[in-house]
Amino acid sequence: MEAQLLPPPREVGPDGRGPRARRRRPEREDRLGAPQPAHERRRPLFHPATGWFRRAERAASQWLDVHVWPRVPGATVPYGRILDRRLVLSHARVVIDGLPAAFEGLRILLVTDVHAGPFVAPPALETAFARLAATEPDLIVLGGDLTTGQLSEFRDHERAFRSLRAPLGVWAVRGNHDHYTEDPARLAAMVEACGIGVLDNRAVELRSGGAGLWLAGIDDLLIGAPDLDRALAAAKPPVVLVSHNPDVLFEAARRDVALVLSGHTHAGQIRIPGCPVLVRQSRYRLDGGRYRAGRTELVVSRGLGAVGIPVRIACPPEAVLLELVAPGRGA
Ligand SMILES: [Fe+2]
Repeated sequence: MEAQLLPPPREVGPDGRGPRARRRRPEREDRLGAPQPAHERRRPLFHPATGWFRRAERAASQWLDVHVWPRVPGATVPYGRILDRRLVLSHARVVIDGLPAAFEGLRILLVTDVHAGPFVAPPALETAFARLAATEPDLIVLGGDLTTGQLSEFRDHERAFRSLRAPLGVWAVRGNHDHYTEDPARLAAMVEACGIGVLDNRAVELRSGGAGLWLAGIDDLLIGAPDLDRALAAAKPPVVLVSHNPDVLFEAARRDVALVLSGHTHAGQIRIPGCPVLVRQSRYRLDGGRYRAGRTELVVSRGLGAVGIPVRIACPPEAVLLELVAPGRGA
């Protein structure tokens, strides 16, 4: 996977109408290696849903996000600057066995963990989405955690979500934070009202040039009601699966899914350069980047937003632009 800075942003004007161009010099370029082998060895002392540390972390984060940060004047300023100045677009070329010729070179924009909420003002998200839309993907996938914990957060950012358009559609799954809203069905309806399809344990066939490619999605592994069998029931290989949580990888590999697209981990959000992730969200250490289990590839994005505190250190916000290719063209 290689990463490059986004094209200059198209910023929403103060009147909220129309983009205005703003030039910015690229700051850096990253390059990540080939997919890492993933190992199905669970961390023995870590349960992501029920461990005492995770429960305490989740409670503290939710309390801050719901009761503290929304009352702090200027709380959206620091992360707005991070999003504006440090948003990275990572590129990956993924080889898919049996990819129909009509989908050769398909470009999928993966945007995860938006976390609309106390740290992101609507204009900042609209600007970030506009910069990403400038890449003109064929398909946009929202990998869950659209919100931080309240339905009103999505409502406040509806215009940004409505702005997302792609020839093969915009598709979303729900993450754990989307379930913290306590009405995930209502959230799904709000998302669909914005022209975004919700893949709630189901699959859709994307059509191009007389051929089809199946895109499936499941509910959140930790808080939702995921049903991989149901999601894949109608789908024919090769299948691209969207799961907020990357820990579905090994189950997906046993079902011969070609590609899994995930987020959730934020790649740690706060890192010490050169050191392992401090707070891990994956039971299998699938922290971020590309992994492989059997014939299945997994891409985990660091995501756009933040939770708990409005900071990312040594772990900038990210979206991933994937290009699918048939075997023989290399990754
Ligand atoms: Fe998240």
